[in-house]
Amino acid sequence: MTDPVVIAIDGPSGAGKGAVTQHLAQRTGFHVLDSGALYRLTGFAARLDGLELTDAAAVATVARTLDVHFLPRQAGDEPFEVLLRGAVVTDAIRTDQAGVDASTVAALPRVRAALGDRQQAFRQAPGLIADGRDMGTVVFKDALVKIFLTASAEIRAERRYNQLKNKDMDVSLAALLESIQARDERDSSRAVAPLKPAEDAVVIDSSGMPLEAVHEAIWTVVNKVIYSVPTNNAE
Ligand code: C5P
Repeated sequence: MTDPVVIAIDGPSGAGKGAVTQHLAQRTGFHVLDSGALYRLTGFAARLDGLELTDAAAVATVARTLDVHFLPRQAGDEPFEVLLRGAVVTDAIRTDQAGVDASTVAALPRVRAALGDRQQAFRQAPGLIADGRDMGTVVFKDALVKIFLTASAEIRAERRYNQLKNKDMDVSLAALLESIQARDERDSSRAVAPLKPAEDAVVIDSSGMPLEAVHEAIWTVVNKVIYSVPTNNAE
């Protein structure tokens, strides 16, 4: 029996992967993996525990033993309520600082290894939409569809600014742009699982595109591949 189908959606921070993932999940009925949330949770839990974020052994233990639950939500802009050790952290892990911390712990190979099995466990029938940086290059190399979604740093900073403002978070556009550029640099230059398109990825630059057009462009790719080949789910 073959493994359930995976659709990998990779790209830099603020490219719109989350919205695309939710859109695809609605159209396919597939499960969702927000791998960035696992890195955010690891950084967040490590801080709660008072650890140095560069202490690879200690942070990897936090990653391996994360007590986390994703509960589907019907309303609101976050599709899941996120619980860490029983406490709701849905918005707390979305701050810019939590993103920076996530990117710091994500550069540690031991942390990436510790989160590997956890990510694989999301691969369940009828299929999985996996959102991240290395879904198509490392974690699900055999993904049937690989999309690399990007946009200019300025546009991504503006989108993130609007998202955080909607959550009543106090942010500055200039600071967000700087933070996004620094995060891009760290994510792309790290030695393990750097941010880059898989060789067989379809690259989409959403800079000048309305959201609906992005969704349709990606759906066209997914629909063609997923529903035109025999899969495990059709058996
Ligand atoms: O996608 P999100 O902004 O939530 O990711 C936060 C950080 O987690 C990223 O900047 C990146 O450093 C890290 N990450 C990663 N690999 C993934 C997903 C996220 O390194 N698959």
